This record gives sequence, C-alpha cells and structure tokens, in this order.
Amino acid sequence: MNVLAELRRRFAAALAPWVPDPAALAELAGMVRISQDPKFGDYQANCAMPLKQRLNRASRDIATDLVAALKVNDLCHPPEIAGPGFINLKLRDDFLAAQLNHALADPRLGIAATGSPGAAPRRRFVVDYSAPNVAKPMHVGHIRSTVIGDALSRTLRFAGHEVITDNHIGDWGTQFGMIIYGYKHFRDEGAYRANPVAELARLYKLVNRLVDYHDGRARLPELAQKLAAQESQLKTAAAEPLPTEKNALKKAQQALRRLETQVRETGEALTALRASLAAVEGDAALAGPLAAHPKIATAVLAETSKLHVGDAENLALWREFMPPCLEEIARIYRRLGVTFDHTLGESFYQDRLSGVVADLKKHGLARESDGAVCVFLDGFDIPMIIQKQDGAFLYATTDLATIQYRVSEWHPDAILYVVDHRQSLHFEHLFAAVQQWNKASHLWGDQNLELMHLRFGTVLGEDRRPIRTRSGESVALESLLDEAIRKAFDVVSTKDDAKPEGAELLADERRRIADVVGIAALKYADLAQNRESDYIFSYDKMLSLEGNTATYMQFAYARVRNIFAKGQIADAALAKLSAPVNLSQPTERALALELLRFSEALDACIADYRPNHLTAYLFELAGRYSNFYNECSVLQADDPATRDSRLRLCDLTARTLRQGLALLGIDVIERM
Ligand code: ARG
Repeated sequence: MNVLAELRRRFAAALAPWVPDPAALAELAGMVRISQDPKFGDYQANCAMPLKQRLNRASRDIATDLVAALKVNDLCHPPEIAGPGFINLKLRDDFLAAQLNHALADPRLGIAATGSPGAAPRRRFVVDYSAPNVAKPMHVGHIRSTVIGDALSRTLRFAGHEVITDNHIGDWGTQFGMIIYGYKHFRDEGAYRANPVAELARLYKLVNRLVDYHDGRARLPELAQKLAAQESQLKTAAAEPLPTEKNALKKAQQALRRLETQVRETGEALTALRASLAAVEGDAALAGPLAAHPKIATAVLAETSKLHVGDAENLALWREFMPPCLEEIARIYRRLGVTFDHTLGESFYQDRLSGVVADLKKHGLARESDGAVCVFLDGFDIPMIIQKQDGAFLYATTDLATIQYRVSEWHPDAILYVVDHRQSLHFEHLFAAVQQWNKASHLWGDQNLELMHLRFGTVLGEDRRPIRTRSGESVALESLLDEAIRKAFDVVSTKDDAKPEGAELLADERRRIADVVGIAALKYADLAQNRESDYIFSYDKMLSLEGNTATYMQFAYARVRNIFAKGQIADAALAKLSAPVNLSQPTERALALELLRFSEALDACIADYRPNHLTAYLFELAGRYSNFYNECSVLQADDPATRDSRLRLCDLTARTLRQGLALLGIDVIERM
C-alpha cells in the first residue's frame, strides 16, 4: 500500500466540505509529507496553515476540526497537533506489522498492480530510447538514454502498465553516405572480409576526418576574422577611461570582463581548430586521400541522396552493411542486459514520408516557403521544416511518420522519448505539430495522448567538460564497460583479500562478480542523478563502497543474504516463517517503515519518470538496515520468536533491495 497516497486521500475526504475546488483540494491534500524528523511522527500535514486566510479562523482551530473529521484510526495513533497547526501522524505498529506480513507473503512485495483497487489505472506506454545512429561506434552519450529508458520501462512494467519498447535507431543518415563513399574509395578488401564492422568503423572515421578537415579549412578564415574583431573591440574598450560613479564603474568592468572571456573563448576555439587541422596535415597516411578528395563533403552528401532516392548500388551496399552494424549494437545491449520489443529505425519509415508531407499540406498545416515545405506553429518563431528544397526529408518528418505509425499500430496512452536535452526544441516542435495534425486528421482521436520528452543532461569528464578521450574524440561506450569491469575486479579482490578469515573467492568467481559489479556501477551512477542534470563521470566514485552506489547496494544485499547462509536457512525455510513481526526496537520500527515505503518510491519514480527516486529510496533502506543490524542481533537473538521476526525483516529487506535493483536493470550477487 502507498501509505502516503492513502493518507492524502483521507485528508482530501476530511477537507472536502471546506474546499469545494478540486485543484485546491488536491494541493492541500498534497501537503501531507513524510516527516523529516521522527520526533514529529512518520508523516506530517501542514494544510491547516494555508486555510487560515480562506476560512478566516486560527489555524490551530482548523487543525483541531480537521483532525476530528479525519478517519485514520485504522492506520495511525490519534494525530497530534503542534505549534500553529502542524498535524503529526504516527503509524500504529500493528498496522505496520500487518502490512509487512502482507508484503512478505506476496511475490510483488505488497505493491498493488495498476488497475487493482486503490492503484493507478493501467496505461499503455511506448518508450523510445537508446536510438543510436548505427554504423558509427556507440559512445558515452548513448549510455544515458539506454540505461534510463530501460529502467523506466522495467519500472512501468512492474507497476502493471503495458510497455512497448522501440529502439528508433538512426539507420538512414549521412553516416551511411560516409561509409558508402569510404567503401567505394578506401576499403581494404581483406580487412572488410575478416571483420566488416571494424573496417566500416575505420572507413567512417577516415571519411569523417577528411570531411571535418575540409569543413575546418573553410571555417578557419571566418573564425580568425571573428577573433580579430573581438580583439579590436576589447582594445578600444580598454583604452577608454573608466567612469568614477560606482554603478557605472561596475558595469564597465563587467563589460570588459565579458569581452575578455569572448576573446579567450574564440582564441581557444581557433587554437583547437588549427591544432586539429595540423594533426590531419601531419598524418602521413592522410596526405594521399586528402589531396585526392578535395570535394569529399559534397560527394558524401551525394552518396546519401543517391541512397535515399533508391540508387540500386547504394541500396545494395546499405543492405550489406546493416546486419553487421546491428550485430555491433546488439553485442553492447547483451552486455548491458537491455532488450527491445521493436527496433524500427528511420529507414523503416522512408516510404511513408511523402504521404506525411502530402497529408499535412492537404490539411493546410504545411506550406511551401522558399522552396522548402514548412509547418508553421503558433507560439514558435521558426517553422518546422519537413522537406528541403532538393526534396530531401528531415529528422522531423521521420518522427512525424513514426508517431503516426505508433498511434495506428499500438494505440498508446503515452509515448516517452528518452533523448538528450539538446533536442528539446525538436520535440517541442514535433509535439505541437502532431497535436494540430491530430485535430485536422484524427490520428488518434479525442482521447488524451501524452507525449513526453524525457530529457537528460550531459556526461562530463573530471574537468567538467563533455567527456572526451585524450585525443579529443568521444569516448566509445564499450571501452567504458571494459574499464568499469577492470576496476570492479580490483575493488572486489581488495575487499575479498581483507576478509578476517582470509579470501573466499576463486579468481573465476571474482571475474564473474566484477562483470556484474562493473556494469551495475556504470548504470547506477547514471540513474542516481536527477536525469536533467549533467554529471561527472568518475570510476572511483561509482565503485565506491560507501555512499549511494550500486557497489554499496550490492554489498548490502550480499551481507543480508550472508546471515541466511551463516544460519543455514534456506529460502524455503524463510518463506515458512510466520512469527508476527515485532517492532519494539526503534531501529526495527524504522526499518519496517522504510520497507513499507517501497510503494511510495515506485509511484514517485513513475509520476515524473525519474529513476533517482528509486535509487534514493534504496540507499535510505540500506542505511536503515545497517542501523538495525548494528543494534539488533538476528541469529543470536534472545528468543526464537525475536529471531524469526528479525529474520523476516532481513528477508523482506533483501527482497526489496533485489526487486528495486532489478527495476533499475541491476543484478545482485549472493556472495561477494
Ligand atoms: N538517433 C537520434 C540521435 O542519435 C535519437 C533518436 C531519438 N528518437 C526519436 N524518435 N527522435 O540523436
């Protein structure tokens, strides 16, 4: 049972006679919160104070009347009123114990599935996540979408929702123009036969470098000019006498500093560009291709367009390249333990795009502007382009077709897009366009379709800049996995070597454990962040044995399980224990209360699609367990009834940790 939600319902019922407006009522009931300090009970309601104005009475009197009207005897001790009208609620131990008994006997740990009484209605979700552009190596940026999308899908499913996962891979973009061009001009046939993915990756990198080089050469004069202009502006400003008046002086100094920053940043960009051009020019292997392919950028675009208009040769190459590209991403998904119901990439929608444009035109939503076809949207300065002058369709056109398909095929209640925050504007446009399109063309009709961009921040290096390799390239996802596992092996080994009775694990076991611990650390470090924030990637932090990490949580789980191993208590015997749970020790009660809050954590995680509610909960749970364990003997308890009661608390803790981690896509280890 979600106790917090239940208490809010009870408060809403008691408040209803005074507050007829449903929105105001919901807001007031929402003021029931978890107490930060156990002195004030387990939950606290602060809704009497804001009613003071509305009812023109002392808030303490309002609280008294509210408590009289409130029906919570089955859950709580009589509520207490403090100060100006804070209402403090303490759950009854017999209620807590009964809830725990129920959770212990339930494979769902007492979590009501959607659609059952008291739980949220069941909905159908399409979750769009991971979606790398294939034919180039997956990089660090893809970890967030993959891991967050996977965790949310698992959590929604566990809650009882219907979830359709769809990996909208980029399999039709310019990267194919690059490898087709590379294949035609630079391929090493033997290498391609032996390992097509590696050779295609090499070709992609090579062509990309050449294109970038020419692009950089073209940008160089403009950038140099910009720097010169900024420098002269700074010089003029610096030569002017500073004003004496305080405010004017401050402003002038600020303006100077701003100019200095601009000059510094442009200077840095210019230096970096010159260095990267020099690196290419200094690379003997690139000298030949560089001289022989001066028009490579336009040639690559031409190869892409040929593919898009159905050129037989390019299409055949694309068909040849796709299977190894897909196998490449599948290998990473296997390592991460991530699966999808569908992988309908951009190519899947190609023959629908002209229909989309025609339909939008027919309904007057799209029209030609400077030769391009645009959707003009209320509230947006720039239109959304859906077809370029040369007839090419865009990312947005494909996304429109994708929504049309998902809606007609799957009839979802919600589509969630787990995509980088830099695409926010794209999704704002897309959602606005599709709402108008629905009004005109009844894509899904009158019912509500929730379209949500679940955006996430950037992964930063220890220097607080987007994480890069030393040579400035983006970090390959696979190398992160390898490194995390390598470091996890050290952590696991050190911990094992330090055991008082000597090491317990064989080298093979350590390796197996390190595989699980390394991947878990990587995922958890990502999920434990508020997804919209940037975060700093650090192996040491993510594998730390203290603090909110997967490693800490996995050790906590193994420690609980170790009690059963030491006491030689099999799972079947645990399941048979029926002693009533006794909560007479404060740490027992605190643990019990936290166990019961699993349901609240899940609901919070789903309410705003943020897995960090769940990680925060698991961390708190592990902490309360550790307090309990330090205070209360389990196997050595004074009497058999206490021992059994505590074993049951341990059992529910282990199962809750395991289930919670499973929802994050993280495995536990029985012994480590
Ligand atoms: N392939 C895109 C990228 O790497 C992400 C696609 C996200 N999904 C979508 N339906 N637009 O940026």
